Amino acid sequence: MSSQLPLVDAFNRRITYLRLSVTDRCDLRCSYCMPERMEFLPRKEVLSLEELHRLALGFIDRGIRKIRITGGEPLVRRDVIELIHAVGRKLGNGLDELTLTTNGTQLARHAESLVAAGIRRVNVSLDTLDPGLFAKVSRRDQLGAVLDGIAAARDAGLKVKINTVALKGVNEHELPDIIAWAHGQGHDATLIEVMPLGEVDGDRIDHYLPLTAVRENLERRWTLVPSDLRTGGPARYVDIAETGGRLGFITPLTNNFCDGCNRIRVTTTGQLYACLGGSEKVDLRAALRSSDPEGRLAAALDTAMRIKPERHHFRIDHRGAQPAQARHMSVTGG
Ligand code: GTP
Ligand code: 5AD
Ligand code: SF4
Repeated sequence: MSSQLPLVDAFNRRITYLRLSVTDRCDLRCSYCMPERMEFLPRKEVLSLEELHRLALGFIDRGIRKIRITGGEPLVRRDVIELIHAVGRKLGNGLDELTLTTNGTQLARHAESLVAAGIRRVNVSLDTLDPGLFAKVSRRDQLGAVLDGIAAARDAGLKVKINTVALKGVNEHELPDIIAWAHGQGHDATLIEVMPLGEVDGDRIDHYLPLTAVRENLERRWTLVPSDLRTGGPARYVDIAETGGRLGFITPLTNNFCDGCNRIRVTTTGQLYACLGGSEKVDLRAALRSSDPEGRLAAALDTAMRIKPERHHFRIDHRGAQPAQARHMSVTGG
C-alpha cells in the first residue's frame, strides 16, 4: 500500500480499529451464532499467514492503531500465535494495541505465548457459569476448559473482559451472578444484545433481550455510575459501586452507536466489510493476489471508505424475523 493517507469515511469518521478474522472455524456451536451443522470454508479460500501479515502492516501504514484478532475461534488456527508475534512487533511503532476475542477453550495453552507476543488484554465470551446450560447453549461440554483458560490468562498477567450475550429465558436470571463473579475475579464484564446475523436453527426473536430492561433490573440491585471510559469499541461503561468492577453495554438494537464508529473488519477470505450489519465490501484477497498488490490495496481501501454506510439497520421485532445479514458473526469476525 503506497498511500500513507489516513482512513476517513464519507461521514468524516476516522477509521483506526481493524477487526481481523483469522478463521471462520470454531470448536463451539453457540446456538445464537451458528446452526448445529455449520459449514466452514474450504481452507484454500482462507488467507495465508503471510497474507494476513501483509494486510496488517498495510493497514498500520494507513493509520490503523488497534487490531483485534477474531474468528470463529482464532485460537483454533494453528499459526495464529506466529501471526500475533509478527504483528506484535509493530506495537509502540504505529500500533497502540493488539488484542484478541476468544471463546477461551484453548486459552490455558496459549496465555503465556500471547503475553510474550505483546497482547495485554483479551475478551473472553462466556454466556453462563452453569455447566449444563453452557453445554446446551454452546452445544459442547466445555465450561471447565473455558474457566481454566480465563484463570490461566489472569495468571499470565492478561487483563480479561468477559463478554456475555444476554439471552431471554436462557441466561437472563444469571446475568447478575456472572457480573458479580467476573468482578470478584478482577475482570471487567460486558453485556451484548443478540444481533440478527446469519441463519441459526431457532428463532432469535425468542431470545432477544433488550439491555434497557437488564439495566433497569441491575439498577434495583446495584449503584451504576456512568463512566467516561472509551476503549475504542462500541461498549458504554458503568462502574458498579458495590462490586468495585466495570460493566459495559453493547446495544446495537436499543441504542445505536454507529455515529462514533471507528472500525472495519476483514474476513478470513480477505473481504473487507465496511460494517458488521451491512453488505458493503471490497475484496482485498483479489488485490493481494494481483500483479499490483500495493496499488490495488490502496485503491480498495479508498473504495471502502467511500462505501462505509452511516449505520447498521438491525431489527428484531417480529416472529420469524429474517437475519439482517446472511453472514454469520463467525464469518465476519465477532
Ligand atoms: P474493547 O476493545 O474491549 O472495547 O472491545 P470491543 O467492544 O471493541 O470488542 P469486543 O470483541 O468485546 O466486541 C464485542 C461485541 O461487540 C462483538 O462481538 C460484536 O458483537 C459487537 N460489536 C463490535 N463492533 C461492532 C460494530 O461495529 N457494530 C455492531 N453492531 N456490533 C459490534
Ligand atoms: N449477536 C450478538 N453477539 C454474537 N456473538 C456471536 N454471534 C452473535 C450474534 N448473533 C458474540 C459471541 C462473542 C462475540 C465474538 O460475538 O458470543 O461474544
Ligand atoms: Fe464459536 Fe463464538 Fe460463535 Fe460461539 S459465538 S460458536 S464461540 S464463534
